[in-house]
Amino acid sequence: MVIRKICCIGGGYVGGPTASVLALKCPDIEVTVCDTNAKKISEWNSDKLPIFEPDLEDIVKLCRGKNLFFTTNCERAISEADLIFISVNTPIKTFGHGKGKALDLQHVEDAARMIAASSKRNKIVVEKSTVPVRAAESISHILKANQIDGISYQVLSNPEFLAEGSAINDLLYPDRVLIGGGDDSDSVDAMNELSSIYKRWVSKEKIITTDTWSSELSKLGANAILAQRLSSINALSALCEVTGADVNQVATALGADSRISPNFLHANIGFGGRCFQKDILNLIYICECLNLPEVAHYWQNVLDMNEYQKNRFARKIMRSFYNTVHGKRIALLGFAFKKNTCDVKESPAIYIAKMLLDEGAALQIYDPKVEESQILKVLSKPVTSNDSEIVQQAITVFSDAYAATKDTHAIVVCTGWDEFTSLDYKKIYESMLKPAYVFDGTNVLDLRELAKIGFHVESIGKGP
Ligand code: UGA
Repeated sequence: MVIRKICCIGGGYVGGPTASVLALKCPDIEVTVCDTNAKKISEWNSDKLPIFEPDLEDIVKLCRGKNLFFTTNCERAISEADLIFISVNTPIKTFGHGKGKALDLQHVEDAARMIAASSKRNKIVVEKSTVPVRAAESISHILKANQIDGISYQVLSNPEFLAEGSAINDLLYPDRVLIGGGDDSDSVDAMNELSSIYKRWVSKEKIITTDTWSSELSKLGANAILAQRLSSINALSALCEVTGADVNQVATALGADSRISPNFLHANIGFGGRCFQKDILNLIYICECLNLPEVAHYWQNVLDMNEYQKNRFARKIMRSFYNTVHGKRIALLGFAFKKNTCDVKESPAIYIAKMLLDEGAALQIYDPKVEESQILKVLSKPVTSNDSEIVQQAITVFSDAYAATKDTHAIVVCTGWDEFTSLDYKKIYESMLKPAYVFDGTNVLDLRELAKIGFHVESIGKGP
């Protein structure tokens, strides 16, 4: 089969950037993103894209209307495509069996049904969404059960390893591309077709092929091990604080061991994002279902350590104010779960903000990329004891860091945006109420400089 048209079902954080890079690297292939969410599609077709990713806008502008299209007409996009990526989201189930742990595959199933209903010829169907092990099998079942005579489907697993904030770079220069499939000749042919697309810009040594289930489990395993590294360095950060060691220096020393590597060792307020917590919960669920309680317990500890880390930081703030922040004005710098993204999913900033609101503080919030409406929406969800109106009265969102910090008692840095390291902290200090505090949850500020200016500083993993 010659691939002339590709369809990506799902225009989110994975589907949008993936389709854009495919269009950029394969000018002879028409790539269409389809999504039933009309607002999202109209944003993809506008000047203000629904997500922020460095370099994404340039690529979209270059390819859109040429070989990159965004549409709500999924039926047509699917029926015309030779190869279909399923890149819909798979949230944690909020109901029924596996509630709070298992992944909700409703959108994947809907996509499979849509493919079955709209296909009039053979298709390669590629599962890109993070899914539980054996999901490809269930997609195949749905497709086969609804198959029109004479049509065949090859279902492959091709998990995405891009990280938000560096999606384009990760897609252009991946460490590896993983393709899982069966060992029959049709599946091997389909794997070769998919490999040949990636080979246009990825060297063949980086393209790994495995059986389907190994590919699916590798995705969950990669995220679990990355999160486990973070919980390990965060656990060490607690020890550093009581012993007087410096976790950044410890991380440098650890990372110099080539078996450990320096990456993903930055101690922090705790990890957030769309995937780590969700994927580990799913891994725990799978282990429990397969009667592996010790393994489930092991991964649960990674999540528990992350909660401990967020909570430890929150308590540090409270302790500095003798457990009374009621009536205090506190600036929150950064609200996204990490720098270079507008995504707030599982952001530690939400945890800290809710704790401070619950204690009666007034918050002045600034994030370079997160919209005010988004901040108000997540903070109004009923996790605090306050109702949403009170919460909204207690929050002001600013469009720059200087305005957000003026007349506050303390600054809490929740996201490590580069601009926060080069602010004029002298000017900020002068505009604040005294004593002025800085709580650095990102471990990126120059604490000595801040202390010299007169701030009381607290951070992660640095001794008293
Ligand atoms: C993560 C994985 O890194 C990707 O490989 C994977 O494809 C993606 O999940 C997914 O499954 O979709 P993402 O969550 O977008 O990517 O971003 P990360 O850069 O991994 O950051 C996750 C969290 O870890 C953030 O809160 C970040 O601040 C934190 N982090 C990261 C640290 O605390 N320290 C570090 O050294 C690195």
